[in-house]
Amino acid sequence: MSLGAPVASVEVQINEVGPRDGLQNQAKTLLPEQRIRLITALVEAGLGAIEVGAFVSPKSVPCMAGTDQVIAGLPAAAVKYSALIPNRRGYDMALESGIKTVNLVVAASNTMNEKNIRMTTAEAMAVSLDVIKQARSDKLSGQAYIATAWECPFEGAVSEAVVIELAGQLLAQGAANIVIADTIGAADPAAVKSLMQKLVSEYGAEQLSCHFHDTRGMGVANVYAALEVGVRSFDASIGGLGGCPFAPGATGNVATEDVVLLLRQMGLTTGINMAKLLHAVDLAADFTGSCLGGHASKWLKVQAEKGLL
Ligand code: COA
Ligand code: ZN
Repeated sequence: MSLGAPVASVEVQINEVGPRDGLQNQAKTLLPEQRIRLITALVEAGLGAIEVGAFVSPKSVPCMAGTDQVIAGLPAAAVKYSALIPNRRGYDMALESGIKTVNLVVAASNTMNEKNIRMTTAEAMAVSLDVIKQARSDKLSGQAYIATAWECPFEGAVSEAVVIELAGQLLAQGAANIVIADTIGAADPAAVKSLMQKLVSEYGAEQLSCHFHDTRGMGVANVYAALEVGVRSFDASIGGLGGCPFAPGATGNVATEDVVLLLRQMGLTTGINMAKLLHAVDLAADFTGSCLGGHASKWLKVQAEKGLL
């Protein structure tokens, strides 16, 4: 099985986080078989990168239990599969599972780190730097999320300088990619442009991604703002599923179908087949029992019925 094959070249890379960020906040826990079916539908839709689960404490996030079983059943494909890990224990489990990319998480605010992973920012950074080093020696790709990069639900506005400093330390240690995350969906396009422009000019766009939540309906606008300053890699979640159980007030991620539609309409390629993507959204709706869909879902359904997708 190939769990870390190179991804076909597209102009904008979408990393689908529905099977992790999307499912972690659902009332219903999916079986590993259902998670595999959902991921398979996403692979069939042409997603080149998928976060397939998390190696976190089952007491903290019960529905991510069984991520090792999900990884064992992944379809062999040229897809960058990744899993979230909060600590060294999670790293060891990820290594054993055979996954080739691990996603570390450090929030830009102390209180968020304490609520999410029970570490201070300094402790979370020490763990992340250590794990990135280990991943390099094990020939795994270590990515790092900087959560609450614009606003923290507990501490309020986050200083750009803090995010730039954390990103610099993680990249210097050999992080393959830094994902700048608006965990609670509080950022606006001006704030996104301001921070991402500074990060791009400091470190280049190649190793930077953005992760937006759509709490205030600005997810797609934020994607556009980041695109304008050169970012070409985004997280998104089918149907807008998602949210962090430890960040009060956060709702779902920006919907993958909304982002794909935006990019497609602007003439940027993602390699994703919209009709097949909507099939994956239907499957997620069926499995979770949640009413799903991005802002464009009604219009997209009409286009699908007319065979125009
Ligand atoms: N995966 C699975 N189990 C883990 C683990 C991991 N990565 N890390 C620790 N554990 C287990 C320990 O073995 C221990 O189990 P036990 O009670 O059966 O002995 C238990 O979890 C507590 O361990 P401890 O080291 O004291 O952790 P903690 O209670 O301080 O919790 C985290 C720290 C990081 C494990 C926990 O807060 C967590 O999983 N957070 C993830 C949050 C998340 O996924 N947020 C959303 C994504 S950003
Ligand atoms: Zn998120």
